[in-house]
Amino acid sequence: MPVLLCGGSGTRLWPLSRAQYPKQFLRLLGEHSLLQATLLRLEGFPELGRPVLITNEAHRFLVAEQIREIGIEADILLEPAARNTAPALAAAAQWCRQDGQSPLMLVLPSDHVVTDIAAFQQAVALGLPHAAAGRFVTFGITPERAETGYGYIHRGAAIADGFAIDRFVEKPDLTTAQSYLDSGEYYWNSGMFLFRADRYLRTLSRLAPDIVEPARNAVDRARRDLDFIRLDSEAFAACRADSIDYALMEKTDDGIVIPLSAGWNDIGAWDTLCRSASADFNGNTCTGDVIAHDCSNNLIRAESRLVTTIGLTDMVVIETADAVLIAPKNRTQEVKKIVEQLQRDG
Ligand code: GDD
Ligand code: MG
Repeated sequence: MPVLLCGGSGTRLWPLSRAQYPKQFLRLLGEHSLLQATLLRLEGFPELGRPVLITNEAHRFLVAEQIREIGIEADILLEPAARNTAPALAAAAQWCRQDGQSPLMLVLPSDHVVTDIAAFQQAVALGLPHAAAGRFVTFGITPERAETGYGYIHRGAAIADGFAIDRFVEKPDLTTAQSYLDSGEYYWNSGMFLFRADRYLRTLSRLAPDIVEPARNAVDRARRDLDFIRLDSEAFAACRADSIDYALMEKTDDGIVIPLSAGWNDIGAWDTLCRSASADFNGNTCTGDVIAHDCSNNLIRAESRLVTTIGLTDMVVIETADAVLIAPKNRTQEVKKIVEQLQRDG
């Protein structure tokens, strides 16, 4: 069963992404949003069952509309409060166990880019027997820099098509990340997982009963509302907030990693989008009504009017109806400073 995490409220792609319109819903590369592309990436793959999408109240109509647009039917679970990914997945696991089954859950963030779909599907296929045997399967990316926003996986003994996980470290500090990078023995955690629903619940009830019990109650008391399944507010709010990475992956001895080389990109900021987008012969990626004269290596996006530039190099220009961002490519992480200031100023 594909389980899509759609609860993020990313603001790092401001001004395009907003609290009301986070990045998973944006059409950043081509005609489909990142959420739609995540579902379409599974097309032609052996039947994993009906997808489950888990999101928050505020975005429910966006999710419903976007899956309708691509003609896919799914169960949409609504979280009454944000409790991070471990509780969201506990609710999804409990939901799909209701009829006594224990399907495999293919957990997918809804806001990543994967360009090589065949390689992605192949890695998932290699993980299926391990997950069926009760392991927690991760998909490891060869690290390119000492990124502190990712989980790191130290590979252990070689097994069929991958490695046992010796150690999983979520978001290490910079010095540690650099030493992992230098060792050549680590993968980045891609944030995608594959495991059996019953294994997840059983392991998590040992490691974090304060997540599993309330999540189970939230599903037992859930109610249907039009196209949505509303988890019980009081029960779900009682879940301790934590991510699957800290709550389970750092602690289990049953993890394995399948290397993944599929053009994975989690689009952490505007500059990383450039790596997945196609550029013209001057290295410019232009979207919308743009005229770039004597410009090279820029990302320029016009949403609501004509944007023209002269002599720009290595810049990001994002125009929307009510806000414009202009920044050097290598400083786009600092967009969060702008967002913080906007929040302070109300
Ligand atoms: N439904 C729901 N509810 N979804 C959520 C919630 C929540 O409360 N919180 C986050 N999500 C979604 C996000 O939208 C995203 O698709 C996914 O879950 C992962 O959450 P992030 O907040 O983006 O996690 P991260 O990027 O800091 O770290 C994770 O991803 C990295 C790779 O991008 C970890 O798994 C790291 O280990 C990993 O390297
Ligand atoms: Mg993320």
